Amino acid sequence: MVATAPLDIPAIQPSSRVQEYLQSPRQALINGQWQAAASGKTFAVYNPASGAEIAQVAECDAEDINQAVAAARKVFDDPNHAWNTMTPSDRGRLIWKIGDLILEHADELAELESIDNGKPKAVAAAADVPLSADLFHYMAGWCTKLEGNTIPISVPYAPGAKFHAYTTREPVGVVGQIIPWNFPLLMAAWKLGPALATGNCVILKPAEQTPLTALRLGEIMVEAGVPDGVVNIVPGMGETAGASLAAHDDVDKIAFTGSTEVGKMIVNAAAGNLKKVTLELGGKSPNIIFKDTADLEATIAGAASAIFFNHGQCCCAGSRLYVEKDIFEEVVKGVTAAAAAIKMGPGLAPDTEMGPLVSDEQLARVTGYMNAGVEAGANCVTGGTRLGDQGYFVAPTVITDTRDDMSIVREEIFGPVVVADPFDDIEEIIDRSNDSAYGLAAGIWTRDLSKAHRTAARLRAGTVWVNTYNIFDAALPFGGYKQSGWGREMGHEVLELYTETKAVCMGL
Ligand code: NAI
Ligand code: MG
Repeated sequence: MVATAPLDIPAIQPSSRVQEYLQSPRQALINGQWQAAASGKTFAVYNPASGAEIAQVAECDAEDINQAVAAARKVFDDPNHAWNTMTPSDRGRLIWKIGDLILEHADELAELESIDNGKPKAVAAAADVPLSADLFHYMAGWCTKLEGNTIPISVPYAPGAKFHAYTTREPVGVVGQIIPWNFPLLMAAWKLGPALATGNCVILKPAEQTPLTALRLGEIMVEAGVPDGVVNIVPGMGETAGASLAAHDDVDKIAFTGSTEVGKMIVNAAAGNLKKVTLELGGKSPNIIFKDTADLEATIAGAASAIFFNHGQCCCAGSRLYVEKDIFEEVVKGVTAAAAAIKMGPGLAPDTEMGPLVSDEQLARVTGYMNAGVEAGANCVTGGTRLGDQGYFVAPTVITDTRDDMSIVREEIFGPVVVADPFDDIEEIIDRSNDSAYGLAAGIWTRDLSKAHRTAARLRAGTVWVNTYNIFDAALPFGGYKQSGWGREMGHEVLELYTETKAVCMGL
């Protein structure tokens, strides 16, 4: 059994502005109106640092999804609607303004994110919020650059005939987006930014654990001037609201981020009308340290941050740490010391470095993996315990003496838990790294440039970080090989996935 170690958790009240926001039940944004769920139902949202309820939110289901899809459809299908006649330049300006407004409300958004998700406010303020704003700023620039091609064609069965052929890029249409709770505002931005830049209409369903910043973003979008019905934000449960959005016949595309298990359900649900599907799913990313790494101290800090950033609740977390044998002991010692030094606490305490996990469900899942690992014979070098008896805190954990067939090595734990294992040679470690159902990210630490590039090329992962980890940028595509997903987020790659290409061919 996972034991519980004590943790003193100071109770800190949110600012009066945030308290005010949370006082009345937060409603859904459908067709430009803030409204209660058709059923009148609401659900509770909890502060993961205390387990206390902080807000009630409209619990939308199939009926509300129908309304939102109808609103989005009506806009999209009307060629004279302001959204469809807006010039690309004006659309870019509108999306840019969303980024500006996010920065204007940065402190409030960071605070809301912290009490909803549990992450330190300082982290949300340094990463989640500015990255979200930057995503909109980046995407704003693409509106004026969605170009097609003119194509010289030969048509062998029409000798002598002349043609003028070209392609255009059109929005896919009505897009359903379902997002998780680990970066609630940022995931909303990753989804909404490219969908709007390419002129789609959207129904976004935030995670039931963390709907607050997406709803606040909805207000920001209204303030920025996004026309009614273009963005609908519909909170609710996955099994009801999410499932009906994924199956809806009037939805042209579904974009999902979450578990691989639900990703497969989305694919099945989408089969009804063969809507387009993009998926960003789980990972079990290898982080490989060669003994010729340039700076061991920086490497150890990087390996610790690769797993402990965001409490390990990152799909790309460096959760399998592979270290070349000669320096294995030293690296494990260093990562263990880093884990033990992390200041745990509620997200609103200014000195907190790691907050609680997001929910009691995740607490049970992560501690369940810790138990399974120890029962299978692995060794917990540090951590391995729940912390305190309120909220959902677990100690940053380093586990050694694993076998490659253990569940803690093969499955995504999604908590601050790293498994560390030594390796002897490069071929062995490339094979073991690739021996996974997942292929989202990987890390390499070496000063040998040629080895770095050769290894990067052989790793079956959508992102490879060399001598760094967890570096994200709106311009850098992100997504998975294998069961880590379909398609890419961000960069110009994502725009392909929110547009249809039309070929127009004219006989001259
Ligand atoms: P989940 O996949 O159940 O939830 C993600 C989103 O999908 C939420 O908005 C949820 O409401 C929705 N959803 C759930 N069931 C659905 C359904 N049948 N149809 C349509 N939408 C549905 O993930 P959960 O349960 O929160 O976390 C479980 C595990 O999933 C985590 O421990 C982690 O391993 C993985 N995960 C991966 C994430 C990533 O970034 N790739 C993010 C969140 C979770
Ligand atoms: Mg789930």
